[in-house]
Amino acid sequence: MATRLLSLSLAFLAPSLALVSKDGRTGRLPAMGWNSWNEYECAINETVFLEVGELLLSLGLKDLGYNYVNIDDCWSDKAYQRDNVTGKIRPDYIKFPKGVKHTADEIHKLGLKLGIYGDAGTTTCGGYAGSLGHEEVDAKSFAEWGIDYLKYDNCAVPSTWIDSYRYWPENWLGGPPAENQTAGGPGEAEPIAAPAGYDWTTSKTFTRYKTMSNALLATNRTIEYSQCAWGHAHIEEWGSSTGHSWRMWGDIYPVWEGTVKWSWGLMPILNHASFWNNDTNFWGRGDWDMLEVGNGNLTIEESRSHFALWAALKSPLIIGTRLHGIKPEIVKILSNKDLIAFNQDLLVGEAAKPYKWGVNPDFTWNQSHPAEYWSGRSSRGAHVFALNTLNKTVTKIIDFAEVPELNKKKKYVVFDSWTGKKKGTFKGRYKARVARHDTLAIRLVEAGCA
Ligand SMILES: *[C@@H]1O[C@H](CO)[C@@H](O)[C@H](O)[C@H]1NC(C)=O
Ligand SMILES: *[C@@H]1O[C@H](CO)[C@@H](O)[C@H](O)[C@H]1NC(C)=O
Ligand SMILES: *[C@@H]1O[C@H](CO)[C@@H](O)[C@H](O)[C@H]1NC(C)=O
Ligand SMILES: *[C@@H]1O[C@H](CO)[C@@H](O)[C@H](O)[C@H]1NC(C)=O
Ligand SMILES: *[C@@H]1O[C@H](CO)[C@@H](O)[C@H](O)[C@H]1NC(C)=O
Ligand SMILES: *[C@@H]1O[C@H](CO)[C@@H](O)[C@H](O)[C@H]1NC(C)=O
Ligand SMILES: *[C@@H]1O[C@H](CO)[C@@H](O)[C@H](O)[C@H]1NC(C)=O
Ligand SMILES: *[C@@H]1O[C@H](CO)[C@@H](O)[C@H](O)[C@H]1NC(C)=O
Repeated sequence: MATRLLSLSLAFLAPSLALVSKDGRTGRLPAMGWNSWNEYECAINETVFLEVGELLLSLGLKDLGYNYVNIDDCWSDKAYQRDNVTGKIRPDYIKFPKGVKHTADEIHKLGLKLGIYGDAGTTTCGGYAGSLGHEEVDAKSFAEWGIDYLKYDNCAVPSTWIDSYRYWPENWLGGPPAENQTAGGPGEAEPIAAPAGYDWTTSKTFTRYKTMSNALLATNRTIEYSQCAWGHAHIEEWGSSTGHSWRMWGDIYPVWEGTVKWSWGLMPILNHASFWNNDTNFWGRGDWDMLEVGNGNLTIEESRSHFALWAALKSPLIIGTRLHGIKPEIVKILSNKDLIAFNQDLLVGEAAKPYKWGVNPDFTWNQSHPAEYWSGRSSRGAHVFALNTLNKTVTKIIDFAEVPELNKKKKYVVFDSWTGKKKGTFKGRYKARVARHDTLAIRLVEAGCA
């Protein structure tokens, strides 16, 4: 694959279209925090968030950068929806007896930030008030309450707001379509192909997300903007002009492969990421959805692979597991300093990219066997990730000649990112046994520089 250039001098400049934060800092790096959905769905209340805040501190997670405590769907009053005089969205006063501002104040006292959830449609996915047509009043409420982060979902889009051309990656059946082809899924209307060169910033999806972006910017508060548009309307092409991150695919679920209801296992998501990893950089990045580390029946190895690759992709790292009684081995995965350092690098904004698929030929679209060999540079060296998608332990060989960041003629000191330990000095290649569904994660530093 083509050599990747590293331009440190450019890295500090925001891309010209970027939505620069009012504080010049928020949204530059992937967000880190916790979100209620994966573990609690609608069964939330203020206590959950305040306890999570305390636990982020006591588990040492805040010190590692996990600073957002994010409320997901179901926080508002489903029956009343909006105040019939002010038009303001109304919190559920049973779940939040003192209002959302009180929760925010308490979270801020812990040195943490509070996130909230909204939707660019008539209702949220759970049927609570949506913000389409109410962007200004809702952004103002969020700012008044002291909200620091908005996850903005994509349910209940009325027919007048449907895009003229369809681009829904989740519905691709056989692989990424040609640029002029926007495949529909089973049971959908015929695919409606966008004309070649179609400018997706003229789409209605762009307008829906941009309107909230403008409303957030018009408040006096810096609010990190997480656009949950599931990869629709080529959001990766314009998402950094309207927000700080954009979801690339459907909802995640704690299974290795396949789908559960409308949600996806880790491998199908990683398969999409194997093709679409070019648009992430400072101030804007593809979001591969919140972490399921510690959830469902994922094995420790599967949780390790999930965390390593989400960190490598520079996805936001939003924990989605119950922190009460969390197992030490799960905290250990979430606390991996080498992987977090890669994700949060101050000098390199790009995501890791695959340099070889492994099981299948390069660029094979396969939702069980995505690219297995990934690499990227950080300010601390070259990082290589080798995922084992097979059901058995295998030997993974890292051939330095294949890794764009390495030189086959040079010697490298290899560090194991899981243990932080030095494995020795290697030339030409490095090999290791990798258990079923685990990921080898190493950092290589030129010998003499380590
Ligand atoms: C808050 O929510 C949690 C999680 O669903 C639940 O266990 C707890 O009983 C609730 N507390 C209150 C005061 O409603
Ligand atoms: C406005 O809402 C209140 C409840 O909050 C209700 O008592 C009142 O009747 C409503 N007014 C109108 C005009 O719908
Ligand atoms: C898309 O483009 C390819 C080649 O560029 C062409 O062969 C194909 O017919 C086009 N498909 C549509 C639906 O326009
Ligand atoms: C923002 O702050 C300025 C100056 O303090 C004030 O004039 C303006 O009304 C505020 N705008 C909003 C939307 O709160
Ligand atoms: C990503 O960038 C590389 C190098 O510039 C290019 O070869 C490749 O086609 C790009 N991939 C996508 C999906 O845009
Ligand atoms: C975990 O496995 C059990 C037993 O096979 C199953 O009943 C349960 O649904 C699984 N949990 C998830 C989240 O997939
Ligand atoms: C995915 O790849 C595996 C291994 O090559 C193959 O057996 C399987 O048929 C592929 N799946 C699809 C849907 O092509
Ligand atoms: C791995 O094993 C599981 C059952 O444990 C099976 O469902 C799956 O298809 C296997 N995957 C591969 C790639 O062989």
